[in-house]
Amino acid sequence: MENFHELLINRRSIRRYTPQPVDADQVRQIIEAALMAPSSKSVRPWQFVVIEDKEMLEKLSHCKSNYAASVASAPLAIVVTADITRSDAWIEDASIAAILMQLQAQDFGLGSCWVEVRERYGDDGVPAEEYVREALGIPEEFAVLCIVTIGHKDEERKPVNPDKLLWEKVHLGCWKQAAE
Ligand SMILES: Cc1cc2nc3c(=O)[nH]c(=O)nc-3n(C[C@H](O)[C@H](O)[C@H](O)COP(=O)(O)O)c2cc1C
Repeated sequence: MENFHELLINRRSIRRYTPQPVDADQVRQIIEAALMAPSSKSVRPWQFVVIEDKEMLEKLSHCKSNYAASVASAPLAIVVTADITRSDAWIEDASIAAILMQLQAQDFGLGSCWVEVRERYGDDGVPAEEYVREALGIPEEFAVLCIVTIGHKDEERKPVNPDKLLWEKVHLGCWKQAAE
């Protein structure tokens, strides 16, 4: 376990993975991270679909026109869904669960990437959500927020440079307009 701040500095989106499967115990703990996520009113509207089947991963990588190729490269993908009839904060709840899985993966030295599904479309104009829902048999009341891809890294990414953080986006005490 690296120091938490180091973990944040080193987490970068990884889109290329080796074929090595993710250890079953690590998969379990990554899912546990999601199931431990805080949620509005503790409703926990999320449900997750864990996919390791190569053919299904390949199929899901075509859910939208761009930026979904990492799904085909990954040995593991977790589809993050939430019951929109149960919470008006489902996007927040599902997002927190997704990032916790990414951070748990990082803690194992694995790479991960968030692949957005909500409000994204395929070349044919079909909503990516519809495509994923149909491929996996997800009920209508469940929105599909994203697919988190996870695996052993097959690319190097530079850590975040803390000297280049956007401090101008932080206002101390009250909102201050940026100087022209
Ligand atoms: C809400 C959200 C949607 C994203 N969608 C995608 C995506 O569809 N495909 C992808 O490859 N990366 C996606 N990303 C990853 C971002 O591109 C990435 O976090 C950003 O470029 C910063 O890079 P870093 O994660 O390496 O720091 C998404 C990230 C977030 C938070």
